[in-house]
Amino acid sequence: MKVSVEGEKVILVPYMREHVPKYHEWMQDPLLLQATGSEPLTLEQEYEMQLSWTQDPLKQTFIVLDRELIVENFIHGEPHVEAMVGDVNIYMNDLDDPQMAEVEIMIAELKSRGKGLGKESVLMMMTFAFDNFKIHTFRVKIGELNHVSLSLFQKLGFKETSYSKIFNEMTLELPMTESKIFEMRQLVGNMVTHS
Ligand SMILES: CC(C)(COP(=O)(O)OP(=O)(O)OC[C@H]1O[C@@H](n2cnc3c(N)ncnc32)[C@H](O)[C@@H]1OP(=O)(O)O)[C@@H](O)C(=O)NCCC(=O)NCCS
Repeated sequence: MKVSVEGEKVILVPYMREHVPKYHEWMQDPLLLQATGSEPLTLEQEYEMQLSWTQDPLKQTFIVLDRELIVENFIHGEPHVEAMVGDVNIYMNDLDDPQMAEVEIMIAELKSRGKGLGKESVLMMMTFAFDNFKIHTFRVKIGELNHVSLSLFQKLGFKETSYSKIFNEMTLELPMTESKIFEMRQLVGNMVTHS
């Protein structure tokens, strides 16, 4: 069974087949498609995408559960669709540098935004990726008008490294220095991993 990671406000669980219908529903929203740079998919394509994300060794994806929405107790291995509010991914897509990972975050459910879930999910994902894949630099691509996302990543210490005029998109990076890793562990607190 794949890994789940429990934090204070969120629990990161593997992207399972049971999550696909709700995920697909989210990705009908043009604003979310634009903010995440995604293409609309049919439900069938979304099932294929879920499989590809779980099988590709260069990708790690988690569904974000809002702890406040979990009915009764969290059970590792259960999808807890009732509490799914978004996803967080990394993609080790730099051919020249396998320890560089691009990170993506989405808190799709509006009722769960602004509660610190996005920030905690990114911090947990980066800590997990550092520990398990020895990632030394994280990269994020953000539309220049996405002020919320820019603020989230800048506050974590990401700095702009390039700008694409064609896509109106900024690339920001965060190197994993010893002091940054220490700070991340302090911020994320006690992370419980189930495997
Ligand atoms: C960007 C996104 C993930 C933020 O998630 P969230 O859970 O609402 O954010 P958090 O509550 O964790 O807040 C993290 C930081 O974001 C910023 N932020 C959050 N809500 C904000 C708002 N309404 N206005 C301005 N800044 C805001 C703040 O800097 C905040 O840090 P602070 O609480 O220390 O001030 C969410 O808005 C989202 O999924 N948007 C659509 C998809 C997207 O844009 N993904 C990113 C693609 S690069």
